[in-house]
Amino acid sequence: MAKYTLQVKNLTVKVGSQTILDKINLKIEEHSTMILFGPNGSGKSTLIKVIMGISGYDIAEGDIIFEGESIKDLSIEERAERGIGIMFQYPPKIRGVKLEQIAQFLTKEEERIRALSAHLNLDKILHRDLNVDFSGGEMKRSELFQLILQKPGFFLLDEPESGVDMENISLMGRMLKAFLKEEKPACLIITHTGYILDYIEAKNACVMIDGCLFCLGHPREIFESIKKFGYEKCKECQREI
Ligand SMILES: Nc1ncnc2c1ncn2[C@@H]1O[C@H](COP(=O)(O)OP(=O)(O)OP(=O)(O)O)[C@@H](O)[C@H]1O
Ligand SMILES: [Mg+2]
Repeated sequence: MAKYTLQVKNLTVKVGSQTILDKINLKIEEHSTMILFGPNGSGKSTLIKVIMGISGYDIAEGDIIFEGESIKDLSIEERAERGIGIMFQYPPKIRGVKLEQIAQFLTKEEERIRALSAHLNLDKILHRDLNVDFSGGEMKRSELFQLILQKPGFFLLDEPESGVDMENISLMGRMLKAFLKEEKPACLIITHTGYILDYIEAKNACVMIDGCLFCLGHPREIFESIKKFGYEKCKECQREI
């Protein structure tokens, strides 16, 4: 029987009186990658922020089960300690905290920090305040750097390729692929461009539209269908999530 790392059950999320996610059901098998597509403003980032436990969202209904236990009422720190990692679409700027300090918090292995930061061309910005005046690409590489150092058993990537040049997409894609191969985590990856699909093996994808999830199928098939027919067509898909 399939074992699930994450199960989102009938999740309804509101901000004030506005419903952003409406009865979401999603299962991610252990060691597997799920791709999430969807138009701007459909609720993709909200879903992963709520899974991580970012404040400001009200869970009106439903539950989030991680490795068999509800994590709905846990703090972000507790979720991170259980092995959940996130790469933000828009990571926060933190003045007074250097990238190197975050790295040292995540691992005591100085050599790992040195090698990984060099590999990701981050060595020159290690001493700078986190995300303060980082370029778009530096910010994304820094997010991936922190994620790999954390070694999460399950992680959430929010548009890892957005704003990243082609060479760096390739660099990040290869690093992600190696990380998946070595650590075998489960993950949920949001993408608009689909570039990431060239580097990782993902069995399943689904589509978020207006706060609801549609379809469950092969990422390439769904991506091609979106390019050809648009997102609205996904609403007609009979493949149930
Ligand atoms: N804290 C909040 N307060 C009010 N509205 C919010 C909040 N967070 C998200 N929203 C709204 O919820 C909707 C979904 O936002 P979300 O960021 O999840 O979209 P998305 O699918 O990630 O879009 P994109 O592809 O543009 O990143 C948007 O209309 C957004 O303005
Ligand atoms: Mg988003």
